[in-house]
Amino acid sequence: MNRTENLELDNELKRQNYYIELCREWVAEQSAKLGRPLTCTAKTFGCQMNSRDSEKLLGILIKIGYVETDSENADFVLYNTCTVRENANLKVYGHLGYMQNLKKKNPNMMIALCGCMMQEETVVEKIKKSYRFVDVVFGTHNIFKLAELLYKRIESGKMVIDIWKDTDMIVEDLPIERKFSFKSGVNIMFGCDNFCSYCIVPYVRGRERSRKPEDIIKEIENLVADGVIEIMLLGQNVNSYGKGLENEITFAQLLKQVEQIEGLKRIRFMTSHPKDLSDELIEVMKNSTKICRQLHLPIQSGSNRLLKLMNRKYTKESYLELVDKIKTAMPDIALTTDIIVGFPGETEEDFQETMDVVKKVRYDSAFTFIYSKRTGTPAAKMENQVSEEEIKDRFDRLLAEVQKISAEETEKRVGMVLPVLAESRNTHDDSLITGRLSHNTVVHFKGTPDMIGNIYNVRLNEAKGFYYIGEIVEER
Ligand code: SAH
Ligand code: SF4
Ligand code: F3S
Repeated sequence: MNRTENLELDNELKRQNYYIELCREWVAEQSAKLGRPLTCTAKTFGCQMNSRDSEKLLGILIKIGYVETDSENADFVLYNTCTVRENANLKVYGHLGYMQNLKKKNPNMMIALCGCMMQEETVVEKIKKSYRFVDVVFGTHNIFKLAELLYKRIESGKMVIDIWKDTDMIVEDLPIERKFSFKSGVNIMFGCDNFCSYCIVPYVRGRERSRKPEDIIKEIENLVADGVIEIMLLGQNVNSYGKGLENEITFAQLLKQVEQIEGLKRIRFMTSHPKDLSDELIEVMKNSTKICRQLHLPIQSGSNRLLKLMNRKYTKESYLELVDKIKTAMPDIALTTDIIVGFPGETEEDFQETMDVVKKVRYDSAFTFIYSKRTGTPAAKMENQVSEEEIKDRFDRLLAEVQKISAEETEKRVGMVLPVLAESRNTHDDSLITGRLSHNTVVHFKGTPDMIGNIYNVRLNEAKGFYYIGEIVEER
């Protein structure tokens, strides 16, 4: 990045801080008029990228003077949308239908839509036509502009729409409101260049671009100073991190730098594309005391024929070889995956190849998805879309196998004493705390809320399918 570009970003930050100030004055006026604070809420759909974006958006809203609430009956309601599968879209329209009535009762209410769905022209057209009560619409590339867009809406009294097709801008240092005090996601890259044939993400998140390592390290150091002990490095394909930066760097090298940060205890990352997972990364993970013993390695399908059609750029054999290498280096690693059932043209034989991989790898857990046709992707034009009944039948068989293996793998650790990060109060039983192993498996154990955010040695007494009941042995 040259000096002019740096200057531009610096100016952009100043510009947004200026709009935050203007909105702050407006919120203060409104709340004086109403005799109560103005409230805001963000409802997030989709992946960790969106969760992190919502923290940034809430950071801006809170700086502006809104008070966060859980209720959707708030003065500013933001939907951060996902479009990876059709049902993610449907959920958003469901909420909007409900909001139309709420807004009639609260004329102060503003509704904003952002995120991946808004990057699709057809969606924005539909909002413009059928959801006129929406106030602000923006996309994935310009979330840093929230205050400016809100101010535009206040001034004009009209629906404001601002969607960018793509960007190479990464605006650093805007406020962030974290959901958890002790753990945080950290974006290391944005976008995706892989164009798997079923996937809409590259179209809605734009081209792949990496953040500079020094910016990432600075952000993590600040988070650690603020009480964070676990971070999740986020990217659609973290294994290709660093490409295109002025000083090229690999993901493994970045991890080594992150490992050095004092006070940081746990490092996770998502997602690893099998085609780019290097020996260097395996080596760094193996020698690390902070990188968690968990690797999410989406297979999607076990059929070489389908993997080719999916444009995944690996084969069943090369994937299994990679898994072998990883397990040899780290025998205690927990592997997790994503699987799609019902990709166009999937036959029973293709499906059996997927089942074979599941049986061979023995995943700790697997996310199974029914293929969803996304307009604009190459797969949407493929013939032989599989019938609903066949898909349902395969999906059920796959899920049963995945759950059986997952329960057996979980069972293997019963009796062990392992470090658990206490994360939250158990929602069903107040006397229990819910935490996570380095392997990412959930553990429930007796404890009190003041323990949240600390790591304890817990004996895993009982496995219950995909989680444990344990007891604290000693404080770490
Ligand atoms: N970048 C990540 C995946 C992000 S999307 C990766 O490559 O692994 C998360 C998961 O959603 C994918 O792994 C895939 O299993 C699933 N997915 C994506 N598009 C889909 C579609 N059209 N239908 C069903 N599942 C899909
Ligand atoms: Fe989608 Fe493939 Fe990119 Fe993952 S790597 S986000 S599945 S295109
Ligand atoms: Fe969904 Fe966008 Fe993530 S489409 S899965 S929220 S990148």
